[in-house]
Amino acid sequence: MKPMSQTKLDEIKSTASAQFKAATSSKSLYDLKVQFLGKSGALTEVMKEMANLPKEEKPLFGKKVNEIKNFLEQVYVEAEEALKKAEMNERLATEELDLTLPAYVRQAGSEHPVYKVIEEIFTIMARLGYSVRTGPLIEKDYYNFEALNIPADHPARDMQDTFFIDQHHVLRTHTSPIQIHSLENEKPPLRIIGTGPVFRCDSDISHLPNFHQIEGMCVDQKVSMADLKGTISFFVREFFGPGLKTRFRPSFFPFTEPSAEVDCSCPICKGKGCSLCKHTGWIEIGGCGLINPKVFYNAKISYPEWQGFAFGFGIERMGIIKYGIDDIRLFPENDVRFVRQFLS
Ligand code: DAH
Repeated sequence: MKPMSQTKLDEIKSTASAQFKAATSSKSLYDLKVQFLGKSGALTEVMKEMANLPKEEKPLFGKKVNEIKNFLEQVYVEAEEALKKAEMNERLATEELDLTLPAYVRQAGSEHPVYKVIEEIFTIMARLGYSVRTGPLIEKDYYNFEALNIPADHPARDMQDTFFIDQHHVLRTHTSPIQIHSLENEKPPLRIIGTGPVFRCDSDISHLPNFHQIEGMCVDQKVSMADLKGTISFFVREFFGPGLKTRFRPSFFPFTEPSAEVDCSCPICKGKGCSLCKHTGWIEIGGCGLINPKVFYNAKISYPEWQGFAFGFGIERMGIIKYGIDDIRLFPENDVRFVRQFLS
C-alpha cells in the first residue's frame, strides 16, 4: 500500500476519534460523523484513491478502510451514549417538574345575580308554603291594568312608562298580572310567588327599562295586615340577615287596600345611616297591601269569603342592597367579570 494513503487513513482515524470524543453535544457529534463517515465524508474520499492502486494492494487497502470505519463507528456509539447520558442528567437537573404548582382550573360559569336572588326568594317562600307561577311578558291591557283596578286615566298607563305593543297589549310593567292569572285559573286558598322581567320606559342611574320583580300573593279565609307584616318580616330577616327590622309606610296602590310601602333597616349600616340608605337607616324594597275587593270581584272570587294580601319587590334592588352593588346598570351589561363575583 502506498504510504500516502496509509498516512491519510491513520490521520482520519486519529483526528476523527479525537474529535468524536471531544464533541460537546450529540448534535455536533452527529455533524462530525457526517464529516468523516458520511457519503461524501473524508473516509469515502480516501476510498476513491483505491482505483489508482495496483490490483494486489486493493484488498489490503479495503480491509484497512473497513477496520477504521468500524473502529470509528464504535468510538461514535460510545461518545454518543456518553453525551446522551450527560444531556439527560442536565435536563433532569434543570427541567424540574414542580408538582406543587396549582393545576389549571377550568373556568366555571355562574348564575346571574338576578337569578341568584330569585332562587333564594323561592327557597325562603317555599318554607311558608308558597309555590312558583309565571305569566306572559306581553300582557293584555286588561291583566296589566284593568283587572288590577288601574283605571284608564291612571298615571301608570302613561305613555312615558308603558311600552305599548298595540292598543290592547303592553309589555307588562309589573308582575302583579300574575295575581290575576292565578285568581282566574286556580281555586283558593292560594300562596303563590311569581317572578320575571318587567318593562318600563325609564332609564337612568337607578332605573332600568327592563328589570325584574317578584310578586307574592296569599288568599285564604281570614287574612290580615298582621299576617302580611309577619310574612314580610320573616322574609326580610331570612334574605338579608337576622336582626333586620321591617317597617310599613302608608301608601297607595289601586289593587290593594290598605296599601303600604315596605322598608327594611339598612343591612349595611344596620340602621345607623350610610350612603346606601341616604343616611335614613331605612331602604325601600317594594309595595304591599291587602288585596282590594275590586280585584277579587274582577276575578270572580267571592269576597269577604276569601281575603288576601299581596306584595311586590324589585329584584335588582334587593341584589344591590344584599351584595352592595353600586350601579343598577351592571345587571344587564353581561360583563362576565361582574357575574363571576357571584359564583357559589
Ligand atoms: N306592582 C307594583 C309596582 O310595580 C308593586 C306592588 C305593590 C305589588 C303592592 C303588589 C302590591 O303586589 O300589593 O310598583
